[in-house]
Amino acid sequence: MNTKLIAGNWKMNGGLEANQRLLQEMLAGLAVSPPAAQVALCAPAPYLAQLQTLLSGSPMAWGAQDISAHEQGAYTGEVSGAMLRDFACRYAIVGHSERRQYHQETDEVVAAKAQRALNCGITPIVCVGETLAEREAGETVAVVKRQLAAVIHVVAHCTSEMVVAYEPVWAIGTGRTATPEQAQEVHAVLRAQLQAATGHGKHNRILYGGSMNAANAADLLAQPDIDGGLIGGASLKAADFLKIIASCPAAA
Ligand code: 13P
Repeated sequence: MNTKLIAGNWKMNGGLEANQRLLQEMLAGLAVSPPAAQVALCAPAPYLAQLQTLLSGSPMAWGAQDISAHEQGAYTGEVSGAMLRDFACRYAIVGHSERRQYHQETDEVVAAKAQRALNCGITPIVCVGETLAEREAGETVAVVKRQLAAVIHVVAHCTSEMVVAYEPVWAIGTGRTATPEQAQEVHAVLRAQLQAATGHGKHNRILYGGSMNAANAADLLAQPDIDGGLIGGASLKAADFLKIIASCPAAA
């Protein structure tokens, strides 16, 4: 079993003062109960310096929610991998469904972003997931395999260095979580695809995301192919996030 990874995605939430309170509460909780899991928070870019200051030397790593597909230059508003590296980001989420939906990110753009992160020594957390219409049409497996294949095609031998997150779009922010069985079924498909690509897909961490919370985390995390969680709303509440972390069994 892989060591679990619990990663928070704050999305477009937070503020300097609120972040400080939240991080201090989380750090205090982790000091009392050191985590069996690896823990990370993905914050809006302007707060990465704050996370670097407050989390350096702590059990929590930090990361970005996006990364430019370009190296540098005339791309107003974008943040490059080198800039994220300046703030010691360990992770960058790429291909979140909110970026695919609201920013028209294609599978090819997502793959280029994953490659850019890897080039900068940042671990991409590559998100895949089907919409409700796709699930109801029986297309779940085809959709997630297509999304992951596009990334594997581009990052090739670096595939083993990335984290994958299965986030069914219908479960994000809706309070409607995939059942452990539904999630495990898709994770097993993704695991097999990674295994076929790298020969050692069992080492890739595959996270589940979509309304994971303090109440449902343990059952999801007990599934053999669920290596952690990508947590939205519950990562904005210290008590809930700490409970999810505490639900992780220690690695065998
Ligand atoms: P929620 O946990 O709020 O459903 O968000 C999941 C998510 O999108 C994490 O990236």
